[in-house]
Amino acid sequence: MHFAPVLKSTLIAGAVFAAGAATADDIAAREKAARAASAAFVQKLGGALKEEMQKGGPEQAILVCRDIAPQIAGDLSRANGWRVTRVGTRVRNPMLGLADDWEHKVLNDFRARAAKGEKYPDMAFGEVVEIGGAPHYRFMKAIPVQEACLACHGSAEQIPDGVEAKLASAYPQDRATGYQVGELRGAVSITQPLDIPLVPAGAITD
Ligand code: HEC
Repeated sequence: MHFAPVLKSTLIAGAVFAAGAATADDIAAREKAARAASAAFVQKLGGALKEEMQKGGPEQAILVCRDIAPQIAGDLSRANGWRVTRVGTRVRNPMLGLADDWEHKVLNDFRARAAKGEKYPDMAFGEVVEIGGAPHYRFMKAIPVQEACLACHGSAEQIPDGVEAKLASAYPQDRATGYQVGELRGAVSITQPLDIPLVPAGAITD
């Protein structure tokens, strides 16, 4: 897929431009909705992960990351008419987690911004790009590594043997280990076709 940036965005910094039919207000509303959806994604997944880790330990919780994450992403996608995914700086599941060219560029920008002192928990970026000749609003919210991630994404010493065995058999292509707390793990990535109107705020309750 080829993405031609039609506007270099400083949306997050506050300045907003119109692109094609989209007004500055439209884009600001889309950014707000994307931020809310990203927060909901991270919160729901984090909650489910924590619960399962406490109940059944990390071996059981593998299923949360495998099944619940794509399910939440799918729910948000269907409810809004968007494409909502999770991408990694390195990936465990190349079918779902691999960044495309635009996402790679944004992940690299995130790391450059962090090197200048910005913090991942507040970091996001959005801009209007053309996909297949049609304008889309694309947005990414950084996901940092936390302590709770290390049992499955940390070093060989941090990953329990039982988890390692399960991961090795389910994900022979796994590259998503060796992370440290505070590093960039990936991002929530949202693509909104501009010709699909925003669902009014409050219309999605779940
Ligand atoms: C219990 C094990 C486990 C824990 C704990 C865990 N993950 Fe994962 N993670 C996985 C598995 C399994 C996948 C692959 C999911 C799939 O099949 O798409 C994954 C995939 C991901 C991906 C998608 C990119 C990829 O590598 O395929 C991201 C991003 C991610 N995890 C972030 C996190 C973060 C952030 C935390 C901590 C808050 C975390 N994970 C904690 C097991 C875990």
